[in-house]
Amino acid sequence: MHELPFSQACENNKQVILEMLERYLKDGDQVLELAGGTGQHCVHFAANLPNLHWQSSDIPSNVDNLNLRLAHAKLANLPEAIAIDVNHPFWNSDRPTAIFSANSLHIMSADSVENFFKGIGAVLQVDGTLFVYGPFKYAGSYTSESNEDFDRLLKDRDPTSGIRDFEWVSDLATKANLTLIEDNAMPANNQLLVWKKPK
Ligand SMILES: C[S@@+](CC[C@H](N)C(=O)[O-])C[C@H]1O[C@@H](n2cnc3c(N)ncnc32)[C@H](O)[C@@H]1O
Repeated sequence: MHELPFSQACENNKQVILEMLERYLKDGDQVLELAGGTGQHCVHFAANLPNLHWQSSDIPSNVDNLNLRLAHAKLANLPEAIAIDVNHPFWNSDRPTAIFSANSLHIMSADSVENFFKGIGAVLQVDGTLFVYGPFKYAGSYTSESNEDFDRLLKDRDPTSGIRDFEWVSDLATKANLTLIEDNAMPANNQLLVWKKPK
């Protein structure tokens, strides 16, 4: 039994994601996390990167749950998570130098994914970095059978959700003035996409 919100997937992927983030993040960075979920990612990243500031967030109905883990971790560089719904026209956020979000685009509706990129285009500082982790389709094809099964499960549960096409997401990012700099294949058929907002 886990007393705090828990996801086995987060336990499995948090270290490999951290190793990628470490290549880009630097001391003093102000990171905004969207769709923080259980808080396992932000606690792991903030604990291992103590010289940057990590602001996690989630939709209003999930913030209290997310904060259970943050309150337990008591990290100086990880303040209480704030409420951000990507569909809200104004995000309750300063201007971050980096934004991170994991496993969110296949949960949100397509309209929400559009708002996700519009909002990021507005708040991310110039020269800032966006990291998006999760499964994607390429040229209409899944990267694995298990992702195809997962997509079916998602759509059975909520027809507006589903694994997104990389090309569509990439186009939304371009419209938000972001430049794709890396598409990293990660374990368990996930990707870590990295964009920069040009100077
Ligand atoms: C599968 S969970 C991923 C959580 C965590 N990032 C992880 O990797 O385990 C999807 C998350 O998306 C969040 N979410 C859904 N709709 C959202 C929206 N409109 N704005 C912001 N977050 C949203 C949910 O509250 C949830 O925390």
